[in-house]
Amino acid sequence: MYLSKEEERLLESDNPTVAKAMEILVALGEIYGADRLVEVKSAHISGISYQNIGDAGLEWLESLNAKLRVRTTVNPAGMDVIRWKEMGIDEGFYRKQIRIIKALENMGAEMSLTCTPYYFQKVKKGDHLAWAESNAVIYANSVLGARTNRESGISAIAAGIIGKTPRYGMHVKENRAPNVLVKVRDGERDDAALIGYELGRKLDYDEIPLVELPRKFSSDELKLMGAAMAATGNKAIFHVKDQTPEWNEFEIPGKKIEVSVEDKESCEPDLIALGCPHLSAEELLAIGKMLQGKKVKKELWLFTSRALAEKQKKLVESIERSSAKVFCDTCMVVSPATENFECVMVNSGKALEYLPKLRKVRAVFGSMEECINAALS
Ligand code: F3S
Repeated sequence: MYLSKEEERLLESDNPTVAKAMEILVALGEIYGADRLVEVKSAHISGISYQNIGDAGLEWLESLNAKLRVRTTVNPAGMDVIRWKEMGIDEGFYRKQIRIIKALENMGAEMSLTCTPYYFQKVKKGDHLAWAESNAVIYANSVLGARTNRESGISAIAAGIIGKTPRYGMHVKENRAPNVLVKVRDGERDDAALIGYELGRKLDYDEIPLVELPRKFSSDELKLMGAAMAATGNKAIFHVKDQTPEWNEFEIPGKKIEVSVEDKESCEPDLIALGCPHLSAEELLAIGKMLQGKKVKKELWLFTSRALAEKQKKLVESIERSSAKVFCDTCMVVSPATENFECVMVNSGKALEYLPKLRKVRAVFGSMEECINAALS
């Protein structure tokens, strides 16, 4: 991989964190056949829940001694940093999680604590990014037409420190071409999350779909579809006919498959959790309307970013009058709080996939409306 003089100097930097960051980028570039480094507009770090990274991750983060050169946001933590007690989080966990947050803050990261960085920064078609967090990656590539590989938390930090990432994979136009045309069969259900869930399972590892949907999806639906596909199929990009920005910039694939949505396992939920990925303003508003003047009878937890919750203070207050709780900075998958329940109802294909694996709880799917109705009955 070609390195400029300045990049070569960074490899020899007196600052061991900077030298290590550069080494990581060069190693990745060489493994994946990058020709050079490319400047990124922003980085996004995932894997910051103490639940997931433990003491080893915390100590590694505290050992870093460098400033981030580009705007760098961070994923949800293992708790709401203000209402952690209400979530049933213990003090020991709280203290460790705060140390992780402080370590990232010291490097200059923006404490966004959300998996939807795309709601808070202008991302343009063709922008190069270094984002970890699979739902953000697939949304940026597919819906916004930006370019990012599925970074790990570590490679996103390295890219944030250097301000660059190796140019391979999704950064190269021809690697973004669809190679399978997918027709989604008209069925009884057309939930975006379930379609994404099935698609991720059905597609081969190297397949990029051009999807023909039964109807036009909103950007929130594309978000749910992509998040699910990224969770069950490790996808970094999809195209949707007549919708996504690059769908007609490539040849229509010759290979064709059909998918349909199937019924999922069922259980009686003791927690209903929405907001995977974090809720948008529109989703929060729709939930607010459904809950207006009503009281929930089951635990209903809603997850969104603190930035959005603060902007929509009145709406959040009105939602909480129904006894639903709006938590920030965290989610049902990365927080250990979910383990206090047995069966969690979600409208997210990603949470449906990960809750049993990571939180060892059962999960059942419902549309947003079905979830709210289950909480009210
Ligand atoms: Fe976000 Fe948590 Fe889902 S980080 S995409 S809400 S698993």
